[in-house]
Amino acid sequence: MIFGANYLGRAAKEIFESNSVVIYGFLDDDKKTHNSEVDDVVVLGSTDDDGFLKFIGKKCEAFVALDDNKLRKATVEMLQEVRHVQPVNAIHNKAIISTKAAIGHGNFVDVSASAAPGSTIGNHCIIHAHSVIGVEAKLGNFVQIGAGSVINAGVEIGDEVFIGSGVIIVSGVTIGKGARVGAGSVVIGPVKAGETVFGNPAQKVK
Ligand SMILES: CC(C)(COP(=O)(O)OP(=O)(O)OC[C@H]1O[C@@H](n2cnc3c(N)ncnc32)[C@H](O)[C@@H]1OP(=O)(O)O)[C@@H](O)C(=O)NCCC(=O)NCCS
Repeated sequence: MIFGANYLGRAAKEIFESNSVVIYGFLDDDKKTHNSEVDDVVVLGSTDDDGFLKFIGKKCEAFVALDDNKLRKATVEMLQEVRHVQPVNAIHNKAIISTKAAIGHGNFVDVSASAAPGSTIGNHCIIHAHSVIGVEAKLGNFVQIGAGSVINAGVEIGDEVFIGSGVIIVSGVTIGKGARVGAGSVVIGPVKAGETVFGNPAQKVK
């Protein structure tokens, strides 16, 4: 069961299908989507619909495909409290995760993303297509990495950080909790918690 029938949900469906996992259906709070199809899979109802929630943990597993961190967190907590389950990982079968990398649960890892030896990916992260997680790089929880970004060796990324697409973060840099890095930026020094930076070299948005 996929929570969220938006872009991310559609991409998650493709990821599960790349692993021959059958999708039972989508749940989405936008009532206009109910009974419509995402490709060939139906949006069954809302994310709090007990009639469908009761299957989770018994007949199927759950994946949260909501890119708004607040919504994703609330949905993860609901699944833990109400259904006593953790969302599964959605890892494309053409992503390359080193056997020497560590990865938690509830993560979205799209096609051609890679994670090198000694790298760590926390829980509930969204790692878009073609991103590179370098040797011994560390990602916290609820981190988002845009398509084609390069997180070089030894970089440390705190919880809830947002990295836009096409970003380069040079080796060893630390990005504080909740910081945001604009698309196309080159980050050459530390970014403090909660800061927004962009550009080459990336600078703080005033
Ligand atoms: C950096 C970012 C997160 C800031 O978002 P925001 O808080 O909504 O801020 P705004 O878009 O209002 O931008 C604020 C200012 O920064 C500038 N700016 C923002 N991002 C920029 C970027 N990547 N490069 C250059 N300038 C940028 C804007 O032009 C604006 O300047 P102004 O105040 O002179 O008009 C966002 O612009 C961004 O780059 N998002 C990445 C999107 C992406 O890659 N998505 C896919 C991955 S999931």
